[in-house]
Amino acid sequence: MKYRYYLFDFDGTIADTGEGIRKSVMYSAEKLGYAVPDVEVLNRFIGPPLHDSYKRYFGMTDDQAEHAITVYRERYIDIGLYESCLYPGIPALLKALRAREAYVALASAKPQMMLERLTKYFGIDGYLDAISGTGLHRHDADKQDLLMAALPEGAKAEEACMVGDRCFDIEAAKALGMHAVGADYGYSLPGELADSGADEVYAASPDMVAALLEGDVPRGMFITLEGSDGCGKSTQIARLKDWLERRGYEVVLTREPGGCPISERIREVILSLDSKGMSAECEALLYAASRAEHVREVVEPALKSGKIVICDRFLDSSIAYQAYGRELGEDLIRQINAPAVGNLTPDVTLLLQVDRARARARMASGAPLDRLEIEREDFFERVARGFDAVRSADPERVHLIDASRSIEEVFRDVRSVVGEALNN
Ligand code: TYD
Repeated sequence: MKYRYYLFDFDGTIADTGEGIRKSVMYSAEKLGYAVPDVEVLNRFIGPPLHDSYKRYFGMTDDQAEHAITVYRERYIDIGLYESCLYPGIPALLKALRAREAYVALASAKPQMMLERLTKYFGIDGYLDAISGTGLHRHDADKQDLLMAALPEGAKAEEACMVGDRCFDIEAAKALGMHAVGADYGYSLPGELADSGADEVYAASPDMVAALLEGDVPRGMFITLEGSDGCGKSTQIARLKDWLERRGYEVVLTREPGGCPISERIREVILSLDSKGMSAECEALLYAASRAEHVREVVEPALKSGKIVICDRFLDSSIAYQAYGRELGEDLIRQINAPAVGNLTPDVTLLLQVDRARARARMASGAPLDRLEIEREDFFERVARGFDAVRSADPERVHLIDASRSIEEVFRDVRSVVGEALNN
């Protein structure tokens, strides 16, 4: 690594905490009878010590500012804190720096207790060597002190790289002799970071991440969802995408058959009722053909660039539907798919299971049925046996989830399996 120590500011650098801060400042202004400032002014509260901002933007005295902070926290601690999300690429960056044995720490004018809560909430606490924040009632936090406190005993500031989104961050880092990286995607004003002496400035967080990792971005993660028709995958996939994005992961959502223009055209041929009577062999080859294009066009490039790919069905569906459902046998289906998938295996597979009656009821209330969905009951029984076989063959990868419960309960399991996989 270029530097031994990496120090990060929090608000506007690691996390977009704007919504919670703005709403809590508005809450305090309304409650204390001040005019609510416009969003430009509200954004000035993100980053620097609140005490200074209340004095500067509301014309308060020290005592008034102290009281305003107490009111602000009535809302911020339980609600505002969680109205935030990590910037894209952040968890991958922290994890990769850690894996390369760099020292990684936070240095922020936010109270220590809030930084600890938030890093735990976002699941990044395990990647940090130190968190340097302020006391709840300390308003004279000096950024240089915070930066030095984030470093281990005896560390040389010149061996540290600091990333921040405001002039206070950059000026403090430069005064200490650190390398200063400007996060222009945060709450800086135009030109603020370059003017304050930043050595590098990035307009988007993935660019900052790629620069710090010198282009060597770790491979992303391949998550697939499987299950019989009507198992409720789509709802869970949408939830999972949102949950991951709020945690700073870049997500590509895709599906099979389909997922890219050529494969979507193949999908139409496979699923159309006009294709009634298609031979099982033709069907299996078309699924594999669609997969070959999709892996090359979408899945592999996204994984290479560090993204999480969530795919609605993959090879396991061909095992369940074509090997078992159509009784073509597993050997043939694996052979047919070898050129399509190469060495690619999902990192995690969520297998959603519901009983047939419930699945049928869900399908009946949805879009018109396609060529596979109108198959006879014995076909779906064989498909279910196929999924059982898929799971028994690789229980470490394939996680069975009881999808007959409420959306919320199912999602809790989905989140827990994916969360664990991300930590490993
Ligand atoms: P889709 O509408 O995506 O079904 P669902 O919403 O239930 O996932 O249609 C995909 C259909 O194709 C579905 O019936 C399962 C089937 N299928 C196979 O038979 N083999 C495969 O390899 C794949 C990917 C899907």
